Amino acid sequence: MWINNIHTIFVLLPFLRLKFLKVELLEELIENHKKFSKMVVKPCAEVKGEVTVSGSKNSALPLLASALLVEELILENFPLLLDTLYALKILKILGKDIELNPTLKRVRIYGEIKRIKVPYELSSRFRGSILFLGGLLGAGGKAVISHPGGCAIGARPIDQHLKFLSHLGANLTLKGGYINASLPKEVKNSNFVFDVVTVTGTENALLTLAGLEGEFTLENVALEPEVFDLLDFLRKLGIKILTHGRTLKISVPPKGGLKRRLTHRVIPDRIEAGTFLVLGSLLGNPLKVSGLNTDHLGVLLEKLEEAGVTLKILTPTEVEVFRSLPPKGLFIETAPYPGFPTDMQAQFMAMLSVARGSSVIVEKIFENRFQHALELVRMGANIKIKGNTAVIEGVKKLVGAPVKATDLRASASLVIAGLIAEGQTEISEIYHLLRGYEDMDKKLTFLGCHAELI
Ligand code: EPU
Repeated sequence: MWINNIHTIFVLLPFLRLKFLKVELLEELIENHKKFSKMVVKPCAEVKGEVTVSGSKNSALPLLASALLVEELILENFPLLLDTLYALKILKILGKDIELNPTLKRVRIYGEIKRIKVPYELSSRFRGSILFLGGLLGAGGKAVISHPGGCAIGARPIDQHLKFLSHLGANLTLKGGYINASLPKEVKNSNFVFDVVTVTGTENALLTLAGLEGEFTLENVALEPEVFDLLDFLRKLGIKILTHGRTLKISVPPKGGLKRRLTHRVIPDRIEAGTFLVLGSLLGNPLKVSGLNTDHLGVLLEKLEEAGVTLKILTPTEVEVFRSLPPKGLFIETAPYPGFPTDMQAQFMAMLSVARGSSVIVEKIFENRFQHALELVRMGANIKIKGNTAVIEGVKKLVGAPVKATDLRASASLVIAGLIAEGQTEISEIYHLLRGYEDMDKKLTFLGCHAELI
């Protein structure tokens, strides 16, 4: 008997340890990201070879919130970055168990929801945390989540998220910085028109509706590929969704009619792909960017070609980019998808800093998303900002300097600038980069550049 028990323990030990290790691993991975304060970037003569794009951060976040809708969700091509690690920590706090396999880029989220409050300490770390409002409401009709407030790139209100919930007849109160939301037994209205196109607003509405039986219409929705990834997931779950322009017709079956266990593959990160394509247009000799989806990159590829960059679309998942110096100046105006993404404006600004002639970037999505311009100026760029317009006069070269990352995409633009500059660049507040780019330092090192986290 004793021998049998010992035997059982030894047989089970690897599995038991595995589970405990996974929980510790989450903390360890977060600490591993947080310990860095700067990135030291040295001039890079060329980037040559292949870089593979990770899973999309902005797709993974709504999918993580949707883990609340099911008993078990397995996500493949899962990007390990600060924002997704914090989101996993929220899921743990809400009661879910997590098994993370960093090597396979796979995460399994399973178990029951035990709590409905998303604490300020975590939600204040990343804006995407607001998606747990929809996730919790879709799962059980109740949520308590701290109001995200503004951030470095603008006020970023969530009035549309809340207006949609009020329209359904939800009870909403704001107390001590927390939003308390609960859905009514019967919804008041099943048709909602967004006043502005909002990505997480659309995703929050979809997550909420997943928990309500019936027919719904959402108008003026966001059409970003990340929204479509969530739509694909919800369809797999058993929800019928028809798209017609910016209108969605949603039909949710009665409770019990939805799948409880699902596996989903996160789409490639189109912004990471775009960031490497910009880098390749300055230093590629050539650079192959693989694991992307060219269908999601339309306007980015067009703008690069307009700038005179040589691109070879090898397959729908692989693009080769050749150094094309100096690029031609561009006019760029950011817009909701399929327009030019605000999340690529900063990286293009770094490229246009060394373009032939002048360029104009008009930022139409966020009111304060030009802080990287001031840092690029410190590196020798000639950029003038007036309101939401930046005028960039191309200079011959940038010069390395100590600079500060002010937001996620700003940090990527400074990395690009540092790699093409003369002399060393030190980017402080580098946690911004680690929030949204997986292994950027390792990928750059693999391509032959010096980009060291310290
Ligand atoms: N807006 C409102 N009211 C709302 C919601 C949005 O007025 O209730 C306004 C915003 O102020 C902004 C515009 O609508 O002017 C669009 O904002 P949106 O809601 O679409 O932005 P978001 O959902 O908060 C997501 C991405 C951002 C990306 C934007 C725009 C996630 C987690 N975040 O933010 O990603 O810039 O859409 O495409 O999906 C990044 O990854 O670096 C990043 C900032």
